[in-house]
Amino acid sequence: MSTIQVITKDVAPLVSADAVEALRPEAEKALSMLHDGSGAGNDFLGWVKLPCETPQSLLDDINATARSLRENCEVVVAIGIGGSYLGAKAVIEALGNSFAPYLNSGTPVLFAGQNIGEDYLYELIEYLQGKKFGIIVISKSGTTTEPAIAFRMLKELLEKQLGKAEASKRIVAITDAHRGALRQLATEEGYKTFVIADNVGGRFSVLTPVGLLPIAVAGYDIEQLIDGARLMQLEVANPSRDNIAMTYAMTRNALYRAGKKIEILVNYNPKLHYVAEWWKQLYGESEGKDHKGIFPAAVDNSTDLHSMGQWIQDGERSIFETVISVNSTVHALEIPYDDANLDGLNYIAAKRVDQVNKMAELGTRIAHVDGGVPNILITVPTINEHFLGELLYFFEAACGISGYMLGVNPFNQPGVEDYKRNMFALLAKPGYEKETEAINARLK
Ligand code: PA5
Repeated sequence: MSTIQVITKDVAPLVSADAVEALRPEAEKALSMLHDGSGAGNDFLGWVKLPCETPQSLLDDINATARSLRENCEVVVAIGIGGSYLGAKAVIEALGNSFAPYLNSGTPVLFAGQNIGEDYLYELIEYLQGKKFGIIVISKSGTTTEPAIAFRMLKELLEKQLGKAEASKRIVAITDAHRGALRQLATEEGYKTFVIADNVGGRFSVLTPVGLLPIAVAGYDIEQLIDGARLMQLEVANPSRDNIAMTYAMTRNALYRAGKKIEILVNYNPKLHYVAEWWKQLYGESEGKDHKGIFPAAVDNSTDLHSMGQWIQDGERSIFETVISVNSTVHALEIPYDDANLDGLNYIAAKRVDQVNKMAELGTRIAHVDGGVPNILITVPTINEHFLGELLYFFEAACGISGYMLGVNPFNQPGVEDYKRNMFALLAKPGYEKETEAINARLK
């Protein structure tokens, strides 16, 4: 039994238990489509059985590569965007010390290529000057502009520091087995490489070397992460009443059909901020198509109770919330007693900080439900590699089921191409001459 739970009683009265239950046949069909490959996008279902099929030899290779990078580098930069970025960032932030950037311990993993910020890149290059650094460059297609720009610049810096031959020993490329510019470059320059399988899309790739290598470099236990994912894979493979991926998919689809078009993923632990960013990509890119789909948003509470809290409590009633509640913190800290008690806090003296946080969470959930915001509660025992593995796979499985229930192909992303076409036209990329002419005419 996994220890992640999904509790849905607070979606009533808008959506009754019977209304959710009525979607079970659809969820069962969606689950079987994931397993028998009879649905749209069936060439991208490699993630479904991936945790149980991950060979120990691959984990050993990733760990050995991570060890070598850690031994030879003060800092490692992981370059990638979207699915080639967010999974590693989510896990590293969730497991890391909140003040990691200011602590001189371990090998920090920095990220690049997830934006085209000139100041970001300038400051990164400035920071890397004179430092022993390595690069993990990640791009499934091998042609994405943002990481390609970052890689070109950091590769140049590394080669200036070490010469081409030595630099190539500190670069690891994760890309398609055969296609794309990055594969060609990696072959020509002799980089160590890992493969992103053809049948695993970017946003479902956190449990492949795409996520696992940066996570291992940061010092975390990828075997535990995969173990957690394996457990969840087995648990949500069958259409039982306890299948929590089906429960979540059924409930959010019932809410959507009852008019709730926006789902806000809520956490009460700042370490989960990037898990929510990863989740937003997973659900947004998988479901937002054919003019359909729940809009995935996220807040970090209690911080955002002092900004978005007003809107959620009292704004347009188009939302529901999914709260990730972490049962136990990693550390324990009590609020001290103070003789003067000028701040009036002695009534909570000797309580754990997390007890106060839990009451903020419970109080908010009750207030939001009373205010017309249905609530799904996902409980996680604690934040560690194992439970993160469970959580990531749970969200992936539920996303596949939910997308099929919605009636879209959850595994493509045709909308992502439109901005690229315009950007290439505006930059006069060779091959885009007609588009350049057309867009320039529009801008006159
Ligand atoms: O989920 C997806 O497929 C996308 O978000 C990609 O991960 C993202 O666009 C990066 O693509 P690539 O890895 O090909 O550079």
